[in-house]
Amino acid sequence: MNAPNLKRLKPLATALAGLAIVATVAGCDASEDADLENGRQLFIAQCGTCHYLNEAGTSSDIGPDLDAAFAAARASGQDQDTFEGVVEAQIENPREVAEDDPTYMPPGLVEGDDARDVAAYVASVAGVPGIEPPTAPGGEGGQIFANNGCGACHQLAAAESAGSVGPSLDDEIPGQDAAMVEQSIVDPSAELSQGFSDAMPGTYEESIEPADLDLLVKFLTTCAGTVEPGADGELEGPAFCFNEGE
Ligand code: HEC
Ligand code: HEC
Repeated sequence: MNAPNLKRLKPLATALAGLAIVATVAGCDASEDADLENGRQLFIAQCGTCHYLNEAGTSSDIGPDLDAAFAAARASGQDQDTFEGVVEAQIENPREVAEDDPTYMPPGLVEGDDARDVAAYVASVAGVPGIEPPTAPGGEGGQIFANNGCGACHQLAAAESAGSVGPSLDDEIPGQDAAMVEQSIVDPSAELSQGFSDAMPGTYEESIEPADLDLLVKFLTTCAGTVEPGADGELEGPAFCFNEGE
């Protein structure tokens, strides 16, 4: 995978930490120091609702395309640390404009170590030529589920996700029809699931394309509660819920 030339200017940064960062990008264990996987998950949930970023699989066009924003600077050989600084500054101090201004970005969406992780993650992938998101479990629908960060908040066996901010979709979706599930995604505040706060982003109606939304709803109504580990521990369920060729 692409992790060119990673360097960080943290006081504890060592050659080893640099190697650990590369390992994280490649999908291995996160290092304590720079948690790019945490940065990636937070980016998908907090930033991907507005920004296109290829490696994250997010495709919203409410804010600027971050691959396009960094491609020229990357091609001209600008330093990774510079990118990281730019992203962190943008998270902390976006331009102060009215919320209905098209250039509005909410300040302080992530803070402290989380902000550093997000900045390090974006700096490591934005504008890298040819970079692609990792293939998610669950076939096409599972890819949309992953790309939109649903798994960070929801448990769903078919997507191999275990988030607990929102209800378990394996528990809640069986018995619901497509219209009900779609309503929960595009207008989550309309009717809150019992015992949960209004924590689900309200931007999916804008950020998920209609065809993708249909696939996502089909994935949820087909695969929630029906995909389970079989006797050998491998997940089993309707064929639609699995990547082809597996
Ligand atoms: C509600 C939508 C929204 C969210 C959520 C959001 N952004 Fe933004 N972002 C924008 C907009 C709009 C701009 C353009 C701001 C401007 O022109 O001043 C922007 C600009 C940026 C830029 C500068 C891009 C450039 O072309 O210079 C970066 C970097 C960035 N955002 C990163 C992030 C990160 C990281 C997060 C998550 C912590 C995030 N954004 C969350 C809307 C959003
Ligand atoms: C930041 C956390 C978060 C993210 C990201 C998130 N959700 Fe949710 N979701 C929640 C919470 C909290 C609730 C319960 C409150 C409510 O109903 O809005 C919820 C409720 C739901 C429900 C209703 C469940 C029920 O009880 O019937 C569905 C369906 C759902 N989410 C699907 C999704 C899908 C699909 C995505 C990705 C496109 C997603 N969520 C992303 C937090 C999240």
